[in-house]
Amino acid sequence: MESIKINITKTSDFLLQSDINKYQTAITNSHEALAQKTGAGNDFLGWLNLPEDLSPELIQDIKLTANDLKARAEVIVVIGIGGSYLGSKAVIDALSHHFSHLKKGGQGSLILYAGQNICADYHADLLEILDEREFALIVISKSGTTTEPAIAFRLLKQNLEERYGKEGARDRIVAITDPVGGALRKMAINEGYKTFSIPSDVGGRYSVLTPVGLLPIALAGFDIEQLIAGAKAMKKISERTTSLYDNPVSIYAAVRNALYKRGRNIEILVSYHPRLQYFAEWWKQLYGESEGKNKQGIFPASVGFTCDLHSMGQWIQDGERTIFETVLTVGKTKKQIEIPSDKNNLDKMNYLAGRNLQEVNQMAEKGTLLAHVEGGVPNLSIEIPEINEYYLGQLIYFFEKACAISGYLLGVNPFDQPGVEAYKNNMFALLGKEGYEELAEYLKAKL
Ligand code: PA5
Repeated sequence: MESIKINITKTSDFLLQSDINKYQTAITNSHEALAQKTGAGNDFLGWLNLPEDLSPELIQDIKLTANDLKARAEVIVVIGIGGSYLGSKAVIDALSHHFSHLKKGGQGSLILYAGQNICADYHADLLEILDEREFALIVISKSGTTTEPAIAFRLLKQNLEERYGKEGARDRIVAITDPVGGALRKMAINEGYKTFSIPSDVGGRYSVLTPVGLLPIALAGFDIEQLIAGAKAMKKISERTTSLYDNPVSIYAAVRNALYKRGRNIEILVSYHPRLQYFAEWWKQLYGESEGKNKQGIFPASVGFTCDLHSMGQWIQDGERTIFETVLTVGKTKKQIEIPSDKNNLDKMNYLAGRNLQEVNQMAEKGTLLAHVEGGVPNLSIEIPEINEYYLGQLIYFFEKACAISGYLLGVNPFDQPGVEAYKNNMFALLGKEGYEELAEYLKAKL
């Protein structure tokens, strides 16, 4: 098996070799702080060893539970927000048929999501769709107290209980939450739901390789053992500490930090494959929540090319030079499709006849990269041989570890998210929650 690679040659117009070299000590120290658990947030490092720590019994339990749910329901609704849903959605979308909702006879269940927003129309439409289908629920919340998934769970649980009775609903609900604390754990114990635990030392956005990601991914019909194998392989690669150039994790963390120091405070993750759209969403949460602290941090953005070249392309080529791009370059696609010849050639496309669409996409990628570099945008590429479970596992671990190192280079705790509380407190106060009366008065005066 190959491994994903990083290419930084197209940053050389913007960074000196010495700009990168000088990170060697800081990067070594950051690796050391993670390994020795001496850095900020050191009680949230369980994700580091997850690929090796997942027991065969747990994997087996996840697979059996997936089979059991699959037998009971054609649609599985995963309830969760942030790290409790983005990881599974990223992997499932990356591996699924693009039109899986219309495709008959797929190998896995159709996975839908709820509780990642509080939109009335979204949830009303979901309930309407579920009315005509057998469904089951996986409710995920590390804290067990997050408002959005709690509301969605209340709605969907009531619907299930009305249809199947309390007993029947119980067989169709799996809860994934903290091993001991939180309202969801308490509810699961009271109601007798099947449960999985999110290890206490693994935060939401680092939890895709726990049952949080693995159960929905297994249900969708994908090989979770290959995903874990990929992560394990990248774990090994990421432990190389000789030179930072030998370790893609180190080099990515060093280069993006060096670019940030030179005023590049927006990183755009670029993909030419629509199936990676949610991978970018997962990445944005990982880096945004981990780095955006103390009035610092690179703003993580994403685009899907060539589509967004017709919307954001102008800005990227010619706008303010505060950006850099990280391109997810895919070696080969699952399917081949050839461009046909046309007798009349009115569209003048015959020069492409007989060429593979992936070749055209790759040329678009190379052409864009060169144009953007010329336009003053540093480019990094992460080269993925193909999109499958194994390489996605590598990519997940790669980005997680690089994120932790990046946080340490910035001098922030990459494992907390204190800023997320502000909106919650205001929302609770405005909704009249007990204990928030004073804040409510203050906010009402400001509205
Ligand atoms: O990374 C994180 O910890 C957060 O983004 C959480 O994933 C998100 O807030 C959801 O939290 P919970 O799983 O506790 O409902």
